[in-house]
Amino acid sequence: MTTPRADLPNSAGLIARARAASARAYAPYSGFHVGAALAFADGSVVTGANVENASYGLSLCAETAAVAAAMNAGHRGGLVAVAVVGGTSAEGGEAVCGPAPVTPCGRCRQTLSELAQLGGTDPLVWCVAGDGVLELRLSKLLPHAFGPANLD
Ligand code: THU
Repeated sequence: MTTPRADLPNSAGLIARARAASARAYAPYSGFHVGAALAFADGSVVTGANVENASYGLSLCAETAAVAAAMNAGHRGGLVAVAVVGGTSAEGGEAVCGPAPVTPCGRCRQTLSELAQLGGTDPLVWCVAGDGVLELRLSKLLPHAFGPANLD
């Protein structure tokens, strides 16, 4: 793992948006709140939080919820950065991050990659831990990604 960094100058605002989104998680089963914030080249930001279900396997992750919101807002590319904040919390509370950064799950990596590939970007992904931030390119999280071009 890359050494977590606490001093990324351009990441603080996006991380704050992800943290705020985590308070809107519906996660009564895991008690694990995740917020994601997507930054676009036009300056806009779209957020999402995880949405669980009594049929546990149907739960939606924050990153996937954020991508769905962004696509429904008309975004088809231009994804330049992603922030993910996760940790335990009570209903209505922001995530309290643990020592390990929350990295997007495999499905979310693929979902983020679709939106990124539409615009030909390789977004920075900021994964927040209690005492720092892990910064990675999406292509590092999901090398050799399958995508739209594979269907040509
Ligand atoms: N979760 C996310 O929202 N994003 C991730 O990348 C990992 C996991 C959610 C799913 C579930 O609601 C909770 O965290 C515990 O796994």
